[in-house]
Amino acid sequence: MKKNRAFLSTSMLLCIVFVLGTTNLHAQQVPIKDTLQFKNGNFDEFLEWKDTRGELINAHDGGVIFVNGKYYWYGLALRALGQDKGENNGAATTIGINLYSSSNLLEWNYEGVILSTSQNVISPLRAPMRLERPKIICNIKIKKFVMWFHYVGYPGTHGQQIGLAEAGVAVSDNIKGPFEYLGHYRPINDSGAVKDCTLFMDNDTTAYFVFDRKMPEGSRCLHIVKLTDDFLHATDKWAKIDVANRWEAPAIIKQGDIYFLITSDVSGWKANAAKTFKSTNIMGPYIEVGNPCIGEQNQNTYNTQCTYAFNVIGKKNLSIIMLERHNTTNFFKCSYVWLPIEVNNSKELLFPYRKEWSLSSLY
Ligand code: DGJ
Repeated sequence: MKKNRAFLSTSMLLCIVFVLGTTNLHAQQVPIKDTLQFKNGNFDEFLEWKDTRGELINAHDGGVIFVNGKYYWYGLALRALGQDKGENNGAATTIGINLYSSSNLLEWNYEGVILSTSQNVISPLRAPMRLERPKIICNIKIKKFVMWFHYVGYPGTHGQQIGLAEAGVAVSDNIKGPFEYLGHYRPINDSGAVKDCTLFMDNDTTAYFVFDRKMPEGSRCLHIVKLTDDFLHATDKWAKIDVANRWEAPAIIKQGDIYFLITSDVSGWKANAAKTFKSTNIMGPYIEVGNPCIGEQNQNTYNTQCTYAFNVIGKKNLSIIMLERHNTTNFFKCSYVWLPIEVNNSKELLFPYRKEWSLSSLY
């Protein structure tokens, strides 16, 4: 099997240049400690991944962004152990979005809360609340970091009423925050509940919000909408990804000139078989590629669900898929499963399971 080709994309370069104010990119390549091990364990194991303080990393269903020589991992800070009861209450937060930094993708320093919930009863971020699957991209034109997510709000139980189940947007001058909350809305024709979502920025610095859109009559399908130049709003350029009818947990990664859309089936927090779609046009049409998992537990995405995919800077043949092994009896004990992505000669995207792996084992 041929390894994938993940290049340092133009958009990443621009992001680095904006943050550094320099074009000396070589100095910014990451000194990856290739021998450190990513540990995923057995399919039924929930391995702890601790930060450099020795505390569990609390950054769920988020993503990774490379800024100024460092990786930043952000995600939902689940509320403290003991308060999580039942499937639908489990993913609420009283904290907001946490941020960690690393130069080697394995040892993470806690940087703090970058989008905070509020105790104010009239705040849209009143805690406890739910803001799922946050994603951040960097906008070179306005020199800001822009975050989009699935906004549900207080008290964190799932809903699809107007005002809830929408796209939330926040912005910051600095990846370390604080992010300013700009509001929430329905990005296509003011209609259709927003469920699982992701952001994707292309090499030409155009950006897109991809989301599971649930219409009032119950139909749901992944949709993609192009963002405005400042990434703060949706444009009227959108498409229904027809083949991704009733697929969720989207992540997009570009390999060469192919856009791969990785998704999960619809079964709440329970693991199911993932499916990949691909297109040479970000707006589609997409065609089905199939299940990106192979071998044991491939019908179960190795007991995980997709969160995000990113290219490793300085390792031009490496992209990583971030998966999460949700634990519905105790969401605070979910575990993170990261795997290298491969694209074979037939242009299929695959991520075989590895109980543990190091960057050096791939070369
Ligand atoms: C389905 C999603 O894929 C899960 O990640 C989670 O968001 C649940 N919905 C919440 O009910």
